[in-house]
Amino acid sequence: MDLFSQIEDPERDEIFALRKELEQANYQYYVLNTPTMSDYDFDQKLRRLQDLEALHPDMFDANSPTQHVGSDLINEDNVAEQHTTQQREADNVQSTNNAKHITRSPKGFAQVAHKYPMLSLSNTYSQEEVEEWLEKLPEGVEIVCELKFDGLSISLWYENGILTKALTRGDGTKGDNVIENIRTISSIPQSIPIANSQYPIAKNFLELRGEVLLSWEAFERLNKEREAAEEPLFANPRNAASGTLKLQDPNEVARRGLDCYLYYMLGENLPANTHYDRLQIAKQWGFPISDAVKVCHSLEEVMDYIHYWDTERKNLPVATDGIVLKVNDLATQEELGYTAKSPRWAIAYKFPAEKQLTRLNAITYQVGRTGVVTPVANLEPVQLSGTTVQRATLHNEDFIRQLDIREGDMVWVEKGGEIIPKVIGREAPLSGSLEDGASAYSLEVKGEEYTFPTNCPECGANLVRIEGEAAWRCPNESGCPPQIKGKMEHFVSRKAMNIDGLGSETIDLLYSQGLLKNIADIYALTQEDIAKQERLGEKSAQNMLAGIEASKQVPWARVLFALGIRMVGETTAKKITRRFPSIDQLQWATVEQLTAIEDVGEQIAKNIIAYFNDLGNLEIINRLREAGVQMQSIEEEQTPQSDILQGKSIVVSGVFSLHSRDEYKAIIEANGGKNVGSVSKKTSFILAGENMGPEKRKKAESLGVEIITEEAFLAILKGEK
Ligand code: IVH
Repeated sequence: MDLFSQIEDPERDEIFALRKELEQANYQYYVLNTPTMSDYDFDQKLRRLQDLEALHPDMFDANSPTQHVGSDLINEDNVAEQHTTQQREADNVQSTNNAKHITRSPKGFAQVAHKYPMLSLSNTYSQEEVEEWLEKLPEGVEIVCELKFDGLSISLWYENGILTKALTRGDGTKGDNVIENIRTISSIPQSIPIANSQYPIAKNFLELRGEVLLSWEAFERLNKEREAAEEPLFANPRNAASGTLKLQDPNEVARRGLDCYLYYMLGENLPANTHYDRLQIAKQWGFPISDAVKVCHSLEEVMDYIHYWDTERKNLPVATDGIVLKVNDLATQEELGYTAKSPRWAIAYKFPAEKQLTRLNAITYQVGRTGVVTPVANLEPVQLSGTTVQRATLHNEDFIRQLDIREGDMVWVEKGGEIIPKVIGREAPLSGSLEDGASAYSLEVKGEEYTFPTNCPECGANLVRIEGEAAWRCPNESGCPPQIKGKMEHFVSRKAMNIDGLGSETIDLLYSQGLLKNIADIYALTQEDIAKQERLGEKSAQNMLAGIEASKQVPWARVLFALGIRMVGETTAKKITRRFPSIDQLQWATVEQLTAIEDVGEQIAKNIIAYFNDLGNLEIINRLREAGVQMQSIEEEQTPQSDILQGKSIVVSGVFSLHSRDEYKAIIEANGGKNVGSVSKKTSFILAGENMGPEKRKKAESLGVEIITEEAFLAILKGEK
């Protein structure tokens, strides 16, 4: 293919676009635990990509999402909930066995190579596809049907009968060792009673794989707590389980109550010749194996199983999203083998997402933090996957127009993997009779033809639609209430200025009182202002003000991110501040200078320049600066070179909000101190962040070693203590 056709070929572009979109969706799902795409949409796009790649074999790429499973491994930029107790485990593992396989993920989990790759399953969505798969198998094979639990996979290692490791799937070849968190699950045996077993299994190594999950009950309890604490909610039990398993505080994990089902045994010299028998043996050994596992002998039996559980699963205490079909005979499994991503001897049948037909009473609009105006369906309340749904997204103008949706229509609503239900279609208008199953509703006269509003429903500004985008936006960034409040919410959020005690409800309240009009007003709040609010009182006022004070130490890179310049995310902000170590330099940056930075494209550069061209923004920046917010890199301003910590041995432990752990270690060294890993009599003090390991704390207390906060530590550096 010549260069010209490579550039012109829309299918090639589509391949690139799909790869990017699917990688992003994988990342959102496996790492951030905030899915943006339903499983169904993901699989449709993946299939399209597979088809296109088959048509363009020269575009084969081993990194394509068609060639590897999604990865839950974390890199430095997306460390979400950090704690430290697991560090000890990581240290232990590193110093004992397998040392050459182990690296450390930034969260402190040891990454360990899987003994056998951890693959995924290929998905099917219809009876026909299941039938096709069965037809390809040797005649008369037995099929084991199992529930497909909707959690995250785990690999448990039993060495000499003792549980030694628990690895997440990771990227399929290596995973995070989350053993301490797995130990909180009481149904998982800590050892196997091999000695009492009638089976001569290899005593040295046995692996069991399964799914870690949170019950509906535990999930709802957790979300209620998060709602009360104004923390973001988990979209579903799977995301909650995934977030929980990656916590580094096993006490918190234990409190949340994870559960587990195991469905696969691996190792050498294993007992039995069939998958089913192995599961039953594992059950005898005390492993949590589902009672729903069944051997089927025909398509009919398989279909009966699927239909039975499609209804019955709604009564289960845990979420399931399909059925897994596996060839029972292990020798046949081996003959069938594997593709790059999944075994040929197993498939998943995914249940269709639950959908309901209901009446669209009205279309209203929601204006988001970035000004995007989303049409919202206000529905006749309807039961969907256990909850009452009254509102659902209508996506954008094009969606509504394409389906010709109008107020009064009967629409289909679905709850996919995402937290917000969505309208997925409209019932076709009927020309015929009620006999075809038509409801009285659908015979009603069609409502008015739909038109998208021309003005912002919140502030009245003229909406704009940027070419190539589906969304309408309100351009009134500094005068439109949800945008102002959204900007403030972003500013105070954990990854930005991390201001405790100032959540979205409080922002709402202080905004409505006229006390907060922009982010700079946060630094003008007084004890009196806050305490006189009925809902808040003295104590909250103190907490909030302490949080605001502490935020003045937040480094420049995070301040830049916190400003909320469109498309300047956390990572981009870090890269920009490396090139522009102070806001005064950044303010005068040109498009050329900005686009020379990795990851900064022309649009981002334009957004930055537009931001600094706005007088209102300049005033806000000045006020933030006067309040003491960091507007230049600490390295520039005060890489605190001194010998103030001379002779001090310091242990750094926990999760910090003002600098990273590594930054603190560098600061200690730059000031003459010595970093040490474990607490002893000789330790001068412990610099402790949140969730410091309980062992360390105990030891420090018993030895009388002082534990100080990061604020106190920074005060020492400034000579204030
Ligand atoms: S068997 C090589 N059985 O589904 C076969 N997987 O989409 C490995 N899952 O990664 C998987 N319930 O996390 C199997 N009864 C079950 C399952 C199950 C849930 C998950 C598992 C896997 C994913 C594939």
